[in-house]
Amino acid sequence: MARYSVHSPKEIRQMRKACELAAETLVMIGPHIQPGVTTEEINRLVHEFTLAQDAVPAPLNYRGFPKSVCTSVNEVVCHGIPEERALQDGDIINVDVTTIYPRRNGFHGDTSMTFYVGTPSPLARHVVEVAREALEIGILQVRPGARIGDIGHAVERFATAKGCSVVREYTGHGIGRLFHTEPSVPHYGKPGTGVVLRKGMTFTIEPMINLGGFEIEHLDDGWTVLTRDHSLSAQFEHTIVVTDGGCEVLTRRNARVVNSEDQPGARLGERSCWMPGEDAVEGEATA
Ligand code: MF3
Ligand code: CO
Ligand code: CO
Repeated sequence: MARYSVHSPKEIRQMRKACELAAETLVMIGPHIQPGVTTEEINRLVHEFTLAQDAVPAPLNYRGFPKSVCTSVNEVVCHGIPEERALQDGDIINVDVTTIYPRRNGFHGDTSMTFYVGTPSPLARHVVEVAREALEIGILQVRPGARIGDIGHAVERFATAKGCSVVREYTGHGIGRLFHTEPSVPHYGKPGTGVVLRKGMTFTIEPMINLGGFEIEHLDDGWTVLTRDHSLSAQFEHTIVVTDGGCEVLTRRNARVVNSEDQPGARLGERSCWMPGEDAVEGEATA
């Protein structure tokens, strides 16, 4: 039994389906990110969409989490709990979707992105676009023989060069039939250190990037993570599998998501975070 979520080609085929559903959920949610919408409404949409695909929303009841998706607004770093508060023009919101498919003994697909509610301030746009690019730069490090530390080092070097900081307490993670497995994938570190990547390993990369300091604090709801200085925080996440040629982004979207500047990554090429498929819908980016 491999320690680090190494999967066979058959298992990867199954996992690809869970990941596709998670990615489609973000595409579905994009148009709903508007001033006046509550995070509870986003939760309801994700919950119903997931069940309609015969899938299960992994967050619901995971270690006591009360909702089907994480919604993290502005200074919330991650694990925000959907609630009745309405989104306001200028907010940024990360929607973190994790889908289990098939329902029984299924695989997890974990992906998140940060959206713009209405028109972002220049600083909001900065932290979001740094987070988006940080994920792409992390993905570019992945190939057989590379090490976990190569990913974190590249992400951290990029984010700090852009004047942002990287959260240390929360990391990417191995993923498969279990939501969170080894290895832990820090978004900081030393090149040439840590677990050696092997073909078939599946894990997430999900940098949390702060406009101010990297320190965090927790709300007493037991989940919500905030920046300690209450500066803005943004995050993007993909589930990937190591391949002979590098990696495959299993949660790659087949259409552009609206209300985030969701561009085919110039850096990623074939590994782009979205590639138009045959059924691609051309969305209208509002930001
Ligand atoms: N999706 C988160 C991650 O990227 C984990 C959320 S755990 C939950 O790892 F319980 F808050 F849903
Ligand atoms: Co994750
Ligand atoms: Co996630």
